[in-house]
Amino acid sequence: MLETGIDIIEISRIEKSIQNPSFVKKYFHPIEIEYSIKSKKAAQHFAVRFAAKEAVRKVLLDHIDNLSWQDSWIENDENGKPHLNFSGKIKEMLEIKHTSVSLSHSKDQAIAIILMDVIPLR
Ligand SMILES: CC(C)(COP(=O)(O)OP(=O)(O)OC[C@H]1O[C@@H](n2cnc3c(N)ncnc32)[C@H](O)[C@@H]1OP(=O)(O)O)[C@@H](O)C(=O)NCCC(=O)NCCS
Repeated sequence: MLETGIDIIEISRIEKSIQNPSFVKKYFHPIEIEYSIKSKKAAQHFAVRFAAKEAVRKVLLDHIDNLSWQDSWIENDENGKPHLNFSGKIKEMLEIKHTSVSLSHSKDQAIAIILMDVIPLR
């Protein structure tokens, strides 16, 4: 079934949280951490990735309980285009036929929109 998820977040909220290394480790995949911390504007990259995770949650709420934050993450290709990746429960419980993601950040806010074509396996 084709489903969409969207989330918007205040970058200042994440800017405070990422001062705490255990927050970063809990919520972000190593690929997301590596990508974000190499930027002078790390908070906007973390924030938009957090928004993408929330958007994934909106889509998968009906299918999976207790999603791990690390089970979905963004990886950018050589052109900078973001792609969604999955592991853990998401891969075990769903066949994911297609995904698409678009990210944007302004000075204050970050927004993620995702589209997923998923088939429950159980
Ligand atoms: C891609 C582009 C449209 C982004 O627009 P923008 O207004 O600068 O920035 P936004 O805040 O709206 O979006 C940023 C997000 O766009 C996404 N993005 C980057 N390149 C992309 C691409 N080729 N296709 C789709 N999305 C892309 C990224 O997810 C980025 O966020 P992230 O770095 O945190 O992952 C713009 O940078 C562009 O036209 N790039 C063309 C290629 C280019 O100029 N490259 C520069 C090489 S030095």
